[in-house]
Amino acid sequence: MFDLPALRAELSEKYDLAPSPELAQEMSDIYDRMSRVITPADWAIYAPYVKAINELKKKRNAVILGHNYMTPEIFHGVSDFVGDSLQLAIKATEVEADVIVQCGVHFMAETSKILSPSKTVLMPDMEAGCSLAESITAEGVEEMRRRYPGAPVVSYVNTTAEVKAASDICCTSSNAAQIVGAMESDTVIMTPDQYLAQNVARDVPHKNVVWWEGSCIVHEQYTAQDLREFREWNPGTRLIAHPECPPDVVDEADFSGSTSGIIKYVTDEKPEKAMLITECSMASNIADELPEVDFVGPCNMCPYMKKITLEKVLYALDTMTGQVEVDPTMAEKARLSVQRMIDLSRELGI
Ligand code: 13P
Ligand code: SF4
Repeated sequence: MFDLPALRAELSEKYDLAPSPELAQEMSDIYDRMSRVITPADWAIYAPYVKAINELKKKRNAVILGHNYMTPEIFHGVSDFVGDSLQLAIKATEVEADVIVQCGVHFMAETSKILSPSKTVLMPDMEAGCSLAESITAEGVEEMRRRYPGAPVVSYVNTTAEVKAASDICCTSSNAAQIVGAMESDTVIMTPDQYLAQNVARDVPHKNVVWWEGSCIVHEQYTAQDLREFREWNPGTRLIAHPECPPDVVDEADFSGSTSGIIKYVTDEKPEKAMLITECSMASNIADELPEVDFVGPCNMCPYMKKITLEKVLYALDTMTGQVEVDPTMAEKARLSVQRMIDLSRELGI
């Protein structure tokens, strides 16, 4: 748990973090990427942090990997690479920096560490967890193996290193159906997201997909009735859902895909009005790039992703605290599951 006033006081001794309209003006090229969703007054608060972080990154030879659910000032202000879970996992294998700062949740940082054990991986807030990752342990995987002998275990990357190590292969929301479809066995175990598994099961009807009962606290809140009512009140709105939503919600949507799949769909289609049935920052991060699209409707916030803030990123880089460690033996087993996913995705052209 952070003592935020103490953290701010410590940072202010080293960096000039006072709100600055002049600096905000100087850094307007960055602001232009988020001016539809961040007010000039807020940007004057963020700009000194963005400047300090970007300078410190160079000093530490660090890169920031930012997930699509980061807030716009992190996504556009300090991230060197942004993307969905699969893209960030692949990027972690490619970057040459000494330090990776993972702006996302803990399982993503663990994945980077597993793939790049010699790098320092920093997590700005260790409490940025995930309801899916917390829903299963390695013992849960073994229980599924006992229930379905011989069936391979495909685990979502939203899992701990321990669960990845106990699985045969990983998947993300952008490759889950193809990975499950490529398994040799008729029965395939998917953990831990029951809804992703149920959505995949419909896409690969030749497989008997069985699942663990985990769920995402952000996406499970949407109901098909919400979407029907929204469509009735807002005719012409394109509804776009993440596959962590229950299948009847996905049925009501016009498109379903990973966070990057959603961005690609909206960028290609440019609907007049769009409702993104996912985490709130998604629409904010693409609003300026797509001025012709009116992003409407409610969204749900991921409390874990929102633990990552500019001041915690600056603190992590300044003090080099929040280093993610994974037991080397477990990391090696987990790496096999993630690497199999990356290799198979490449083979399948995903
Ligand atoms: P993506 O792989 O689609 O980025 O999803 C990650 C996630 O946590 C969604 O809730
Ligand atoms: Fe986990 Fe859901 Fe948050 Fe993604 S949105 S990190 S799946 S709790």
